[in-house]
Amino acid sequence: MTETQFTPRVFSGIQPSGNLHLGNYLGALKRFVDMQGPDMETVYCMVDLHAITVWQDPKELAHSTRELCAGFIAAGIDPERSILFNQSQVPEHAQLAWVFNCVARMGWMQRMTQWKDKAGKNQQNASLGLFAYPSLMAADILTYHATHVPVGDDQKQHLELTRDIAIKFNKDFGVDFFPITEPVIEGAATRVMSLRDGSKKMSKSDPSDMSRINMTDDADTIARKIRKAKTDPDALPSETGGLEDRPEARNLVNIYAALNDQTVEQVLADVGGKQFGEFKPMLAELAVAKLSPISSEMARLMGEEAEIDRILARGAEKARAIAAPILQQTYEIVGMVGAGKA
Ligand code: AMP
Ligand code: TRP
Repeated sequence: MTETQFTPRVFSGIQPSGNLHLGNYLGALKRFVDMQGPDMETVYCMVDLHAITVWQDPKELAHSTRELCAGFIAAGIDPERSILFNQSQVPEHAQLAWVFNCVARMGWMQRMTQWKDKAGKNQQNASLGLFAYPSLMAADILTYHATHVPVGDDQKQHLELTRDIAIKFNKDFGVDFFPITEPVIEGAATRVMSLRDGSKKMSKSDPSDMSRINMTDDADTIARKIRKAKTDPDALPSETGGLEDRPEARNLVNIYAALNDQTVEQVLADVGGKQFGEFKPMLAELAVAKLSPISSEMARLMGEEAEIDRILARGAEKARAIAAPILQQTYEIVGMVGAGKA
């Protein structure tokens, strides 16, 4: 097999399941924005087919999809420079996922920690879609031959599975067709933790709203949540080693660093020795300064539903122009009669 050179292309997705939060922003969205540029094509997707692996109220799903699109744009994604669309409108994702369902093995899926966490003790009653979720995610990525996938730390295992699927497909069919994707899990905030419990990840499903900062929170709410965030009684250290075994302190410092485009070392050089009574107001001020322009722009865009729908439709067209030929070639490789004639 010869090594094929794949054109560098970025793909990532976020589920439109409500409550876009600071973890999504720092772990994903902000980094999506940073990757926009002349060097690489960037493709960003609202993964509505993934969202319905657990029950979604149809009206809320539509609202969350538009709100997420507004969030992407407000955070700095330019629909002229990036392809921005919702997954269900590009049928190639679901079509390629079926092929991958026949490549991936049950055992691979059963090992996924997200499956185990989400299905819990009640696996028999979880949807088949929730189990097959990572295979659709592999299809999202590989139907664009994407080479780089920026995500938060919690998606690492799914990206390893994507690589396994690409490797097995290439080997089974004796081709070098799908790229072996690079996960891009970088920066100070690849795992933002709950503001109430430094051992739990910040999540849209946490019952306590105080545990997270939502991208729709106003300035007062953001400041109050930071003021009330759990901490310990010690002053901040001047070096990173001093954050060990202090998950809440580390989380707040990581958030500060990521919001301010600094390293943790740089932040600690400035704030080492300060008490939380002094650091929290600094963090609140920074968070409000960075997040409130995004939330007010989101609110403004949400008043322009027709414009959002137009952007998504245009994005889907552009996405499809890349995805359709790759699906056709896949079908041809697999031996589907009629494929590749389009
Ligand atoms: P989701 O909302 O589960 O679709 O996640 C969308 C993106 O946000 C993925 O890249 C996740 O890895 C990332 N993400 C979600 N929660 C966090 C968190 N607490 N910290 C950092 N990244 C996160
Ligand atoms: N599973 C991801 C999450 O929950 C969302 C996602 C779906 C995704 N398809 C993707 C992320 C493709 C990156 C690439 O966060």
